[in-house]
Amino acid sequence: MYSQFFCKLSIRDTIKMKRQLLYFALICVVPTILYILSLEKVIPMPVDDDHAGLTEIAQCYECHGEGKEYARSEEHPPKDQCFKCH
Ligand code: HEC
Ligand code: HEC
Repeated sequence: MYSQFFCKLSIRDTIKMKRQLLYFALICVVPTILYILSLEKVIPMPVDDDHAGLTEIAQCYECHGEGKEYARSEEHPPKDQCFKCH
C-alpha cells in the first residue's frame, strides 16, 4: 500500500521536475537566439533626400540595383525585402 503510494508520488515528482528543467532551458535558449540574431549589424537607411518618402522596393533598385551607381556589395544578403532589415 505505502510503497505503491510512494512510487506514484515520485514518478509524478520526476515529471514535474523534468517540466521545470524544460521551462528553465527555454528561458535561457530564447534570449540567446534573439541575441545571436541581433548580432547581424544592419546599416539603417540614411535619412537624406535620396531616401525620404520611399515606400516601394522597386524604387530602391533605381539606385541600388545590380549595375547601378550604388549597387549593393557582393556580400549583401540575397534577400529583396529591403524594409524588413533597413
Ligand atoms: C535616388 C537614389 C537612391 C534610392 C532610390 C535609394 N537609395 Fe539608398 N543610397 C543612395 C545613396 C547615394 C547612398 C549613399 C551611398 C554611399 O554613401 O555609398 C545610399 C545609401 C544607402 C544605405 C546605406 C549604405 C551605407 O553604406 O551606409 C542603405 C542601407 C540604403 N541606401 C538602402 C536603401 C533602400 C532600402 C532603398 C529603398 C527604400 C534605397 N536605399 C533607395 C541612393 C539611393
Ligand atoms: C536580410 C536582411 C537584409 C535585407 C532584406 C536587405 N538588406 Fe541591405 N544590408 C543588410 C546588411 C546586414 C547590410 C550590411 C552588410 C555589410 O556590412 O556589408 C546591408 C547593407 C546594405 C547597403 C550598404 C552597401 C552594401 O552593399 O553593403 C545597401 C545600399 C543596402 N543594404 C540596400 C538594400 C536594398 C536596396 C535592399 C532591398 C533590395 C536590401 N538592402 C535588403 C541586410 C539586408
